[in-house]
Amino acid sequence: MKNSSHFLTCMVMVLVVVVVNGQPLVPALFIFGDSVVDVGNNNNLDTIVKANFPPYGRDFKNHMSTGRFCNGKLATDYTAENLGFTSYPPAYLNLKSKGTNLLNGVNFASASSGYYSETAKLYHAISLSDQLEHFKDCLNTLLGVAGKSNASSIISGAIYLISAGNSDFIQNYYINPLLYKVYTADQFSDFLLQNYATFIQNLYALGARRIGVTTLPPMGCLPAAITLYGSNSNECVERLNHDAVNFNNKLNTTSQGLQKLLPDLKLVSFDIYQPLYDLVTKPTENGFFESRKACCGTGLLETSILCNSKSIGTCANASEYVFWDAFHPTDAANKILAEDLLIAGISLIS
Ligand SMILES: *[C@@H]1O[C@H](CO)[C@@H](O)[C@H](O)[C@H]1NC(C)=O
Ligand SMILES: *[C@@H]1O[C@H](CO)[C@@H](O)[C@H](O)[C@H]1NC(C)=O
Ligand SMILES: *[C@@H]1O[C@H](CO)[C@@H](O)[C@H](O)[C@H]1NC(C)=O
Repeated sequence: MKNSSHFLTCMVMVLVVVVVNGQPLVPALFIFGDSVVDVGNNNNLDTIVKANFPPYGRDFKNHMSTGRFCNGKLATDYTAENLGFTSYPPAYLNLKSKGTNLLNGVNFASASSGYYSETAKLYHAISLSDQLEHFKDCLNTLLGVAGKSNASSIISGAIYLISAGNSDFIQNYYINPLLYKVYTADQFSDFLLQNYATFIQNLYALGARRIGVTTLPPMGCLPAAITLYGSNSNECVERLNHDAVNFNNKLNTTSQGLQKLLPDLKLVSFDIYQPLYDLVTKPTENGFFESRKACCGTGLLETSILCNSKSIGTCANASEYVFWDAFHPTDAANKILAEDLLIAGISLIS
């Protein structure tokens, strides 16, 4: 523990030195996936899965509800800062005049999207394959703005982050008899990972060479999961955590296969399972006070739609909570997750 945090401090210092002396460590950051990384793409969609109203964003810059499913910053916001960027990649659907501010990257993520296109469809969100189409659109703009040779070095030097899979399980598989009665969680994982492999190969074909993908979190420890699937206890739901671990192991194997298949690709998985599990099971060691209940919600059947300005008893100080709403960590927890991302991500930028 001591050693690893010492190591972390050193790595952060090395990075800070590099960043202070110049440009960001990579030319751009492109982000794909779900609500863990969405910064507002869902705001203007015809979906119920949104977070562009208070108290979302109450601890963000200017207390703005941007569409982030958090009280403050997402882990990827911290990642952007750690890489030396002074602004966050804008939401693709909010780009005002395309081409002006996409040189440093774009965020395509849409809450309730996943590796299975039907998950996004259920919630009128943007599927990963549509997110890829939006990326292609940006590539064309980038070619126009930066010229062919600069654009191609931006594309190959950029970091690509993907967060997906969580909605496929929580918002689809576990509640959908057409899936859970037909496929085991193990079979469903295999299916999702086939889609993952296709997505990575498509991204690679478009020029991406540095890709980071997050693992599934301990799904059984999300407040929503404990409410819905827990057996009257406060404990994490073992079955869901088991499914997450199984998926994560397969993700690792699949990633290793892709790494062998695709020359010059750096593909790293960011483990958010263990760090989040540690926060949940040992909150006080990490400076947290509450790791079961979400800061914002009803305390009963907690879903993200039930965190809104009418929520009763939203906590006063979200820094003491691991979870902001029933599915998403607080800014304070994200900051810690981002430190782990940074360590894992060193190999992407070196
Ligand atoms: C390409 O990058 C170089 C070096 O940063 C810059 O001087 C040049 O103006 C760029 N070309 C275009 C077309 O933007
Ligand atoms: C897969 O797991 C091994 C062993 O835990 C780890 O060293 C490796 O970095 C992981 N591979 C990927 C692609 O995440
Ligand atoms: C909120 O909680 C954190 C962590 O316990 C503490 O450091 C901070 O001072 C608190 N902020 C306020 C306004 O009470």
